[in-house]
Formats: sequence, structure tokens, C-alpha cells
Amino acid sequence: MCGIIGYCGRKPAVPVIIEALRCLEYRGYDSAGVASLCDGELLIRKDAGKVEEVIQKHELAGLPGNVAIGHTRWATHGGVSQLNAHPHSDCGGRVAVVHNGIIENNQELRQELTARGHRFSSETDTEVIPHLLEDELKNGRSLEQAVLSIAPKIEGSYALLALSLDDPGRIIGTRKNNPLIVGIDDHDYYISSDALAFSQYTGQVMGLEDNEVVVLAQGGIHFVDARGNRVAKQARKLDHSWAVSDKGAYQHFMLKEIMEQAQVLSRIVEQDGKMFTEIALDILRARQVIVTACGTSRYAALVGRYLFSRVGKKFCDVVMASEFGYFADSVDKNTVVIAVSQSGETADVVEGVKAAREAGAQIISIVNRPNSILTDLSHRVIYLNCGSEIAVAATKSFLCQLAIFYLLAFSMVNSFDAAVARLSDLAGDITRVLDWNKSELIKLSDRLQDKTDAYYIARGINFAIASEGALKLKEISYVHAEGMPAGELKHGTLALIEPGTPVVVICPADYTFAETLSNAIETRSRGAYIIGVSDRDSDIYDSWIRIPEVDELLYPMVAVVPLQLLAYYIAISRGCDPDKPRNLAKSVTVK
Ligand code: AGP
Repeated sequence: MCGIIGYCGRKPAVPVIIEALRCLEYRGYDSAGVASLCDGELLIRKDAGKVEEVIQKHELAGLPGNVAIGHTRWATHGGVSQLNAHPHSDCGGRVAVVHNGIIENNQELRQELTARGHRFSSETDTEVIPHLLEDELKNGRSLEQAVLSIAPKIEGSYALLALSLDDPGRIIGTRKNNPLIVGIDDHDYYISSDALAFSQYTGQVMGLEDNEVVVLAQGGIHFVDARGNRVAKQARKLDHSWAVSDKGAYQHFMLKEIMEQAQVLSRIVEQDGKMFTEIALDILRARQVIVTACGTSRYAALVGRYLFSRVGKKFCDVVMASEFGYFADSVDKNTVVIAVSQSGETADVVEGVKAAREAGAQIISIVNRPNSILTDLSHRVIYLNCGSEIAVAATKSFLCQLAIFYLLAFSMVNSFDAAVARLSDLAGDITRVLDWNKSELIKLSDRLQDKTDAYYIARGINFAIASEGALKLKEISYVHAEGMPAGELKHGTLALIEPGTPVVVICPADYTFAETLSNAIETRSRGAYIIGVSDRDSDIYDSWIRIPEVDELLYPMVAVVPLQLLAYYIAISRGCDPDKPRNLAKSVTVK
């Protein structure tokens, strides 16, 4: 949620910032802006709109200066407007700040500052920061000292960058519970929420701990701790394969990411069997195992719960991360908490994990982004290795999360290698399912584009795929969709079925087939339009999405892929941008 970028060096800064904002747009895309220091002037340009619109409208490319910061916003405090766009400034227009996170005590700070005569021009929580800095600078502090001095007054989470006319030639950055990473290329310095933003210029990066402050100046860079003591840092190499963010020949990142799933699945052979066996043993030995996640990652966890039970005979609970805190009382040192998150920075997940860690639980995380906040909090980390996922709707990361749960479950019965072999074979099935259904799904999307509701049903291990299929449809097509266990339908939702209502029935020819089909027949009797997702055809389907016959524990992986593609094509036929759905952002760093 919100992407921030700063550059200080020898190059014209704003073109670097513009390129970075394009890369960071997945973090928020309702407003954008830049601030540049040049010849004793602080130039701020910002507006509501997508990054490209703001770049064009304000002719950002022409802004001079070698020191600049930029921001792409996902609104939390204050509506989507030019005034609420970042960077924010102080009363005299001498300080500029970009921020990702939430300042929880912003109301109190705003009141105190207003009482001292400060004038606010936005509704944002962020604006208290430049005003606090203004007071410190007026007291003769450097910008570095000013940031150090105001940080303890700010409650909440933040990654922020500041620059000032009173201390020109430098950018000061700090963070607490939000990501911030520095890139170094000789005397060119970059700082951003995501290394993706500057990975085209440098592969040398340095991380920042919570409450540390970094000073990027034209003559060098240094880090200090919260007390202002210098901290020595070693640069490390960025994994460039992870940082690629090119759409290639595809129209959208989402389509590219759906299409590369067979390829990313084949990387499963790179997983470390020894580590999986050790983690599986920890899971088996634990008094209780709780999986926590949000959205798509939680649906992967629900499939994992079936796999753990069926294969490892180990029951685990899956708790929505935003609700996890309410169960914190029962977490102790005999608990294993498995946190699943593509981004590794989802605030609800991070908060739950912190509480669980404090309670003595062992934390295992399943993440995609390397070096995220979640990985730092975990005792063991399993990486998805599926490369950067840019589209807001998760696709390939979900498939890899399922594969990881499959490997963990089979590691519980000492069968890691066999599981890797089965998953490797599945890559061909993923390619087949896309080839078989592409043209049928395009036709189906035309037929369904004007529908206002859709229901997805399945049973057993496939149930979570119904929920995931529905989530994909609603988030990128804005069609109301619900996924549920097929047996649950008759307990209420059946009342909503009318002639023509689409019901997607995930009923592979496994132990769930007969009962799921019978629930589908109940909807058909009320006029539903049945879309069967199965390896077995049936007279009751109005449309058949054919999937290959696979081992029954692997059906979720082949069934989800055409549902992702169906949601994509419906979004396109409804004129929606699948990569940037309204109101959403890829990383949800607020609670
Ligand atoms: C997926 O399509 C969604 N955009 C969303 O539900 C996402 O899965 C959720 O916000 C969790 O994100 P994470 O995996 O990065 O923690």
C-alpha cells in the first residue's frame, strides 16, 4: 500500500523517480507525486490519477534536480484528491515527505501542531510529519537530527522519506514495520519500498532495521540507530531473477502470470528436502498448529489443512490473519504458527506473527518476496520461488503455495522426493488445461459478462478453490461472487439462485464428485446456468471446463488455473483493468 522512492546522485533525479513509480504502481495507483530539490527551490508536483496520467499532466519528466522523492498512493486517510496526494509539505513549503503506513496518533499530533500555529492543507495522517520536522529544523537541527527526534513521537507504522531546503542535497529515510530498502551504485543512491523500483540500475542493496535512519547524500551514505549512533552495513546482492517486472508480449501482468504457472511449478525441484523434513517434524510434534493468512493465501492454507489431515494425519486450524489476535491467548511455546503471504508484508499477518512470537510460538513462513518483514520475524522461511508477481490478483503465487503445502504434507510421511516428482509432472497438466480451455473460456466470458452474481461450489479439498475462483472474479470484474462448500448451499444461499444464475461447480472425478454433482443438480432445478470444472463430462453442465485426470490431492492445482483465466477474460469483456482493480493494492500494509 503506497510505494515510496528516493534518488540522490549524479543523474537527473526525476526520470529515475518516474521509472520507479511505474514499477511501484502495484502498491497503489490512485494518486502520485514527486518532490525535487534544485537551485534553492523545492519543486512539488502531485495529483490524483494513475501514475502515467500524473506524469503526463504535470510534465514530470522536465523537472530538474539530482535529489528527489516520489510516491504512489493507496488512500487510507483522506479521499483521493490532489491535496491528499504525496509528497506533503510544511507551512513554508521547505520540507517534503512521502510516507507508506499509518500514523495512528495523527489526530492528537495535528491538534498539538494546529495549537502551535501550523496550517494543514490535506486530510492525511502523513501531513503531521513535515510539520513536526519544520519545528525541529527551526530549532537549528539538521534534517537527520530532526527525523531522529520526531520518530519517537509517531505511533503506528511507517516508511518515510524526507528532504528539505534547509538541509539540501540529502534524503533522510526511516522505517517501522514497513519495508524500505537502499540501493547503491558507486555514488548513486536509491531508496524504496521495493528493490524492484531501482533494480534496473543496481543489484547492490542494504536493508534498514526498524527505527534505523539512513542518510543519502551526494557525497555518501550512512546509517544510524534510533539514538543517532552510526551503524555499519554490508551491501548484499539483489536476486535479479526475482526483480524482473516485464509484461513481455502479454497485454496484462495477470495474463502473463497465469501463463507462466507451468514454468514456475517446475522450479519446485529446487526446494530443500532436508529443510522440509525438519519443518514437517516440528509440525507433527507441535501441540497445536495454526496457519494464518489473508485472501488468496488463506485459501491456499485451507487446501493445506486438508493435505495435512489426509496425508500427515495432523489437524491444523486456519485463522484469518485479521482475526488471529482474538485467539492469541491460546498461543504458546508448543504452538507452531505457519504464516502464508506472497508479499511478506501484509500488516494483519505481520501483527499476528509478532504476537505469536512473543508468546513463544515457533514461526514458519511461506513467502514469495525475499527479505520481507515476515521473513525477518520467522524462525524458518520457505520461499515460493515464483518470481515477482505484479498483478494485484494473485495467481502463480497461489499455485506455488499449494505446491508447498503438498510438499510439507508429504514430508510428514517421509515422502518429499515422491511429492516433488508428482508436482514436476503436473507442470504438463497445467499447460494442457490452459490449451484445452482458452477459446471456450473466451466464449464463456462473453456469455457471462452481464451477470451480476455468480456462485462457486465444491467439496472437501476442492472447496477452497471455489472460494478462490469467486475471489478472482469479484476483485477484478466487480461481479458479486461467493464460493462455498457445495453442501452448505441449501442452508441459505440456494434462495438466491434464479433462472440464468451462473453456478461454477468444481467436481473432479474424485471422492467429492457424486455429492457435489447432486448439489449442482439442486441449483439446476432452480434454473442455474451450470459451469462444470471436471475431468468428467456431464449432461447437467451448460458449459464444461475440462481439466486433466490427476491424483485426487492434486485436483485443486489444475482446477484453479482455468478459473483464474475465466475471471481474467470476464474482466476484459467488462472493460476492467485486471492488473489494477479499483480500491485494491497488491500489498496491504495497513490493518
Ligand atoms: C489476491 O488476489 C488478493 N489480491 C489478496 O486477497 C491477497 O491474497 C491478500 O491481500 C494477501 O496478500 P499476501 O499473500 O501478500 O499476504
